[in-house]
Amino acid sequence: MVRTFLDRPLEPDAVDRILRTAHRAPSAGFTQGYAFLVFEGRETSAFWEAAFQGTAPDGWAPGLMRAPLIVVTLTSKQAYLDRYAEDDKGWSDRDESRWSAPYWYIDAAFASMLILLAAVDEGLGALFFGIFPPENVPSLLARFGVPPRYEAIGAIAVGYPDDDPVPSSARRGRRPLGDVVHRGHW
Ligand SMILES: Cc1cc2nc3c(=O)[nH]c(=O)nc-3n(C[C@H](O)[C@H](O)[C@H](O)COP(=O)(O)O)c2cc1C
Repeated sequence: MVRTFLDRPLEPDAVDRILRTAHRAPSAGFTQGYAFLVFEGRETSAFWEAAFQGTAPDGWAPGLMRAPLIVVTLTSKQAYLDRYAEDDKGWSDRDESRWSAPYWYIDAAFASMLILLAAVDEGLGALFFGIFPPENVPSLLARFGVPPRYEAIGAIAVGYPDDDPVPSSARRGRRPLGDVVHRGHW
């Protein structure tokens, strides 16, 4: 993750390539229930204002607000319940207890990861971040005309990386592989 960006615009073609890559994300039942709310250049200030309502994230990430591209990843649970109610899936009762995990979040997370990886392929950096406090999210989505069936799982800032201070989370270090991999038995 990169949290500090240069004040430098992106090539429009690069933005298109990143978004096209995101749309190649795998999705359960090929529902494709994700959507992307995209802010470029000067539009990003309207995002920051609506998302953080005056409490700019400069405190925890100086240089983040210079990012020339912000993508808010959205997902629709209803799209998945409807898709799996179709004949080839057969969950016509739309009962959420059938789901072993909420695929609507999983798919949006996969698509977000593709944005991060596509950004790296373009020689850029990116940060996935949450929108806090969560009470700001409904007004953010309403302000930009997002239909009510969508919720936001987070936002991604993309841009040319500048020198990044090491954030507190990264100072935790990566857990040893042996602590997270359990071969054959935990
Ligand atoms: C779901 C999720 C939410 C995150 N939210 C934030 C955030 O709000 N602010 C932030 O600075 N980093 C955020 N991160 C980035 C993590 O801190 C980062 O991935 C972790 O420190 C490991 O660093 P690396 O991804 O650069 O290896 C988030 C990452 C994920 C996957």
